Amino acid sequence: MTEYNEKLNQVIESVGVVPVIVLNDAKKAVPLAKALLAGGIPCMEVTFRTAAAEDAIREIHEQVSGIHLGAGTVITVAQAGKAVAAGARFIVSPGLDENIVRWCQERDIAVFPGVCTATEVQKAVCLGLDTLKFFPAEAAGGVNMIKNLCGPFPNVRFMATGGISMANIAQYAACRHIAAVGGSWMAKADAIEAERWDEITAKSAEAVAAMKRCK
Ligand code: 3PG
Repeated sequence: MTEYNEKLNQVIESVGVVPVIVLNDAKKAVPLAKALLAGGIPCMEVTFRTAAAEDAIREIHEQVSGIHLGAGTVITVAQAGKAVAAGARFIVSPGLDENIVRWCQERDIAVFPGVCTATEVQKAVCLGLDTLKFFPAEAAGGVNMIKNLCGPFPNVRFMATGGISMANIAQYAACRHIAAVGGSWMAKADAIEAERWDEITAKSAEAVAAMKRCK
């Protein structure tokens, strides 16, 4: 593993929260990244769900230091290429795509594919991965499912995402198989749209504190 990827894993694990961001306007990317940083979150996943994703990643990469920047909802190798060219240092997918995983591995780019079944975890482990996105976390059985999956796969750590909020974060924080939780609750589309940066900072700080308290 490269030195950077090792550092990235440490950051994700120590902060415990990876915001999943949907940006409709790349101009909001820099103030948003700064709002997350101010709340103690030095990492983020900008999703390829909008046309603004690539520009947003570029803006953050060029203008904000101290943030570990990833691209999310990457479902094609072409998107992974665009994301990395724009400055993303890690790739997250909702599902497991061997082509994307191998493309990233060949370039030493950290990759966190989504899994939610034993078959998918097994495939990911065979591809040499040990930190996986568990998605959609709540709908797929939450912490109970993660604990069950970790019976046969004790070395796998999960970034649980999908349906997580302050209402259920404590269960995830208390689970030793969790590397981090991901989600959109600290930076919802309406808060970004209305530029409520202080609110995003406060929710980020609250999320980090909740993960720390239970560790
Ligand atoms: C993701 O892509 O990881 C999820 O859509 C985020 O889920 P959430 O919006 O329920 O936090």
